[in-house]
Amino acid sequence: MHYRCPVCHTPLINLNNGYTCQNKHHYDTARQGYVHLANNRKSLSGDNVEMVKARSAFLNKDYYQELRNRLSALIQQIQPTVLIDAGCGEGYYTNQFQITNPNVEIYGFDLSKAACKEAAKAHTSVHYAIASVHDMPVSDSCADACISVFAPIYIEEIIRVLKQGGTFIKVGPGPKHLWELKQLLYDDVYENKLKYISHTQMKWIHTELLKTKIVIEETSDVMTLFSMTPYAYRTPKEKIEKLKQIQELEIQLQFSIEIYQKAQE
Ligand SMILES: C[S@@+](CC[C@H](N)C(=O)[O-])C[C@H]1O[C@@H](n2cnc3c(N)ncnc32)[C@H](O)[C@@H]1O
Ligand SMILES: [Zn+2]
Repeated sequence: MHYRCPVCHTPLINLNNGYTCQNKHHYDTARQGYVHLANNRKSLSGDNVEMVKARSAFLNKDYYQELRNRLSALIQQIQPTVLIDAGCGEGYYTNQFQITNPNVEIYGFDLSKAACKEAAKAHTSVHYAIASVHDMPVSDSCADACISVFAPIYIEEIIRVLKQGGTFIKVGPGPKHLWELKQLLYDDVYENKLKYISHTQMKWIHTELLKTKIVIEETSDVMTLFSMTPYAYRTPKEKIEKLKQIQELEIQLQFSIEIYQKAQE
C-alpha cells in the first residue's frame, strides 16, 4: 500500500474502514470502496454525474474495446508491480487492467466523485481515490508505470510518483479521431495535432497510432459520443439539431499511444 496523507504526506495505513496517518488525519472508505483523498475538497471539480453517466453508457457498449485491449496488452508486456491510472474516469480501462493483470497493485485517481463511485462498483481490487492528478496521494517513486487516457496531465507529478526507469503511457486523440463527427459539425475540419511531452526527465520511447472504425447505430449513442467530446461546448445549436437527425454513423477512431520512460539518475 503506497497511499500517503494528502495533508501531511506521511504514509497512510488501512484502519477501521478507512485510512489513517501518524498525525491522526483519517479518511473513511465509502460504501462503494473508494476513498476521498483530494487535498482541497472545496475546489473539487472533475466530470459531473451527467457526464459520467453518458460516458459510462457509451463505453459500456465497447465502442472503444480495441483501445482497451491494446492498453491491457501493453501493461502485460511492461509487467509493473504498481500501476497508477491518473484520471481514470469510471474505470473502463482500469478495471480491465486489473482483470488481465491480477497481480498488479493498481491505483485509480479521479477528481470526480461520480466517476470514482462508478469505477468502484465493479469490485475489482483497484484502489480508487478521489484525487487530483496534480497532487496524487501516493509516496514518491512508488509506481513502475503510470497511464493517462484522455485525461489532464501534470508531468511533474507523474515524474514524482514514478520509479527511476518507470514507464508513462499517454493516450490521446490521433489526427483523424472522430473525423466524420467533426465533418458533421464544422465547415472546416482540422486534424488534431499530436502534443508530445518534452521534459529533461522523460525520454520518449515509442508512439503508435491505433486506427479503427465503428458504426454507431443509435441516435442516442451519437449524441452521447458528442457529449463526451470538447465539441459539445462550442457547436452552434443548428448543427446539434442536425446531429440529432443522424440514425447511423460510421466513424474513424484514432488513438495516439505514446510511451515515455523516466530517466535513470
Ligand atoms: C475524458 S475523461 C477520461 C476518463 C478515462 N480515463 C477514460 O478514458 O474513460 C477525463 C477525466 O479526467 C478527470 N479529471 C479532470 N481534471 C482532473 C484532475 N485535475 N485530477 C484528476 N482527474 C481529473 C475527469 O473527472 C474525467 O473523469
Ligand atoms: Zn496526515
